[in-house]
Amino acid sequence: MFKRVPGTKDILPEEVLLWQRIEQIARKNFSAYNYKEIRTPLIEEEKLFNRSLGETTEVVQKQMFRTQSGDDTYCLRPEGTSSIARAYIENDLAKTAGFVKLYYIGPMFRRERPQKGRLRQFHHLGCEVIGSEDAFVDVEVISLADKLLKSCSIEGFEIKINSLGCLQDRKELMDVLRNGLKDKIEHLCEDCRNRLNRNILRILDCKNEACQEVIKKLDIRDAHLCPDCKTHFSAVTAGLDCLKIDYKITPYLVRGLDYYTRTVFEIAHPELGAQDAIGAGGRYDNLITDLGGRPCGAMGFAFGIERLLIASKISGEGSLQNLVYIISLGPAAKKESLKLLNTLRSAGITCDTDYENKSLKGAMRKADDLKAKYVLIVGEDELKKNTVALKNMVSGEQKEVSLEELIKELQC
Ligand code: HAM
Repeated sequence: MFKRVPGTKDILPEEVLLWQRIEQIARKNFSAYNYKEIRTPLIEEEKLFNRSLGETTEVVQKQMFRTQSGDDTYCLRPEGTSSIARAYIENDLAKTAGFVKLYYIGPMFRRERPQKGRLRQFHHLGCEVIGSEDAFVDVEVISLADKLLKSCSIEGFEIKINSLGCLQDRKELMDVLRNGLKDKIEHLCEDCRNRLNRNILRILDCKNEACQEVIKKLDIRDAHLCPDCKTHFSAVTAGLDCLKIDYKITPYLVRGLDYYTRTVFEIAHPELGAQDAIGAGGRYDNLITDLGGRPCGAMGFAFGIERLLIASKISGEGSLQNLVYIISLGPAAKKESLKLLNTLRSAGITCDTDYENKSLKGAMRKADDLKAKYVLIVGEDELKKNTVALKNMVSGEQKEVSLEELIKELQC
């Protein structure tokens, strides 16, 4: 028997209803905030991510699905921000649209060790605002993330925010860390010892207890921020206060991708266990220029849809269509139901019939399994009178209805 690749999932029809519900809620919210959908390819040039995420990041070093095509190396996209930045520059959106607010929903790929909430093919639901450094964009993006979670009936989450500052401030922060850690190297885990030279900021969010002990004593606050970045961050927190959005300033919050500057945020949910980030985002004011575009600020976030589903209390029930199930008794009735199916479907009514030639009892059971709202029984007697027996599966009521009145009856 063939099996699916580890870290991937089959989303079966029952569960797809939930996905559709989440996507529907997301589209409604994005639309209310005036974001437009963008769809970029699943496959990109590998060097795009080397450049945008950073050569030394874990995603680029360990998690890319690469494929060679002649002299070119392509990869399955591990995230959406880089692709959208590429698309923004390549399609010259700076010239045609300038400031853009985009959203996306789709699969991402990372070669990670699979566990609860961590997959190799997972799905992002995210947005990117490109073309402004305004702190109120950060406020809008974070408030949209908050709104989305609440609309998906997700409670108990925590929005952690921090400012990494501009590139110069980030360098300062790295120096502070290098100095603070130089005589504590032996207390760090092996990963963090490697990070000292490769990606020192990541030491700040190492989960190892011994490393956490060392980090706590470093007393990192906002000393590395220049006056402009301090003012920017104050405007972000003031905006969030104004909208009464709960957040926690978390000085140790850094992100695993190199493109971030200034505001970064992560949203944690207790039900997710070890992989507790339901979503994350931040500013990336240098990415567009790094990839060859004109200087412009940018900010966005992405939620992992699989993680949203773990935390969400919504059910797919509301997305069930009102199914009408037709059961025909005998060959003449079967032919008649073929026409009936056609007529009802043309009127926009969702209907189906028994193609397994079940007994009346078996077909009724099937209708029940399918959660049909109505069953239409077409028999010889009914045919002669141009009627059908209509059973409401919710109330149990059954009545005879003429074919002319049927559509009206089903639509009300
Ligand atoms: P990220 O933190 O790498 O950020 O991913 C965002 C979210 O995707 C995570 O918080 C998590 O919910 C989900 N996620 C990540 N990896 C996996 C996985 N292996 N399995 C399941 N879910 C996963 C980004 O990708 C940035 N592009 C976000 C962003 C947008 N920043 C600015 N704009």
